[in-house]
Amino acid sequence: MIGHDLIVDLGPRRYPVHVRRDARPELIERITAFAPGGRVIIISDDTVARLHAAPVADALKHKGLDAALLQFTPGEENKTLATVRRLYDDALAAGVDRQTPIIAFGGGVVGDVAGFVAATLLRGLPYAQVPTTVLAQVDSSVGGKTGVDLPQGKNLVGAFHQPKWVFVDVAHLETLPAREIRAGLAEAIKAAALADPTMLDRITARGHALSTGDPDALGEVIGRAIQIKADVVVDDELEAGRRAILNFGHTLAHALETATGYTELRHGEAVALGMRFAARLSTTLCGLDPQDVLRLDAALDACRLPADWARRIDDDVLAHVASDKKIHGQCIRTILLRAIGDPQIVPLPIPTFVRDARSLARSWTEEDSR
Ligand SMILES: NC(=O)c1ccc[n+]([C@@H]2O[C@H](COP(=O)([O-])OP(=O)(O)OC[C@H]3O[C@@H](n4cnc5c(N)ncnc54)[C@H](O)[C@@H]3O)[C@@H](O)[C@H]2O)c1
Ligand SMILES: [Zn+2]
Repeated sequence: MIGHDLIVDLGPRRYPVHVRRDARPELIERITAFAPGGRVIIISDDTVARLHAAPVADALKHKGLDAALLQFTPGEENKTLATVRRLYDDALAAGVDRQTPIIAFGGGVVGDVAGFVAATLLRGLPYAQVPTTVLAQVDSSVGGKTGVDLPQGKNLVGAFHQPKWVFVDVAHLETLPAREIRAGLAEAIKAAALADPTMLDRITARGHALSTGDPDALGEVIGRAIQIKADVVVDDELEAGRRAILNFGHTLAHALETATGYTELRHGEAVALGMRFAARLSTTLCGLDPQDVLRLDAALDACRLPADWARRIDDDVLAHVASDKKIHGQCIRTILLRAIGDPQIVPLPIPTFVRDARSLARSWTEEDSR
């Protein structure tokens, strides 16, 4: 449903997620109300700035607000400390003080970078998220994880810093390339697989509408996916335990992304492959019904997400699995499913994981070639 508010109920840090369609005037009102000192810093990337953030900044200026639009070159390769450093300079030059709010206006890269600037500049500024990709709307804008990459790996520097509010407008997705829409849907499918079998089947049924950007279909699925993520975050804000289930499909995904140098696969595509693999591992390790594997496959297929997980598992990819930062001691905290909607965190020794992955991939590739 479009036009409703969800609450991420983190006690003193509780905040609303407004889910809307075509609601630029309301966004402008909310930013104005959020900036009682009359000054606001909007952070975006060049693409989103041109398409969406600049018109909002102009409207705010027109209303007499001192709105500074800071931008950087799009792309994961710019999710760095160098970008953060430049944004500190620009924000200080714009006259930021302890009360100046920051608006993170863009995809997940902008959200993570701007959130980190807000978490650290002047020891912390209030900020809000205006996510403009499906991935950012269903996943990265909610939950308070912020940060940047290092040459040694992704997301190695960061902070937990919850936004004061999140504004999801599905109209922002109208300019998003189809491939980005489909990749983001993988995270919505993840949410459904973890918590809501009915939603999973609904995604399968509406796969065409979703992957071609139908705003009503997207609004429904995005709203439900945010609710699922919010419930998990409320249970375990700092990822002491259960929040780890959100990494379903991500162990293999991260290894695939690293092995391919982050160029070939979008994150969501890698997650799609990782979930297909994790579901199959779940049949052997926690009794997932093979019918449920097909049910997950059907949703991923309906959103035209890649399926060739087995042929991609090779020594290089498995070596990257072993160096994942989510490893505790010598075990990989693998997220498996006992059923759709019933995830389990299973610590697997690295050699066991590697052996099982290899044999699963082998038997699957053989089956494929028969
Ligand atoms: N903090 C978290 O909890 C969390 C969770 C998941 C992912 N992430 C992070 O999110 C990042 C990926 O996010 P992403 O997939 O949104 O990537 P992204 O921010 O790079 O956006 C993808 C591309 O789409 C463009 N774009 C964004 N919105 C657009 C729009 N409305 N119209 C046209 N183009 C648009 C961007 O300029 C960019 O080129 C990764 O860095 C990942 O680590 C963070
Ligand atoms: Zn993800």
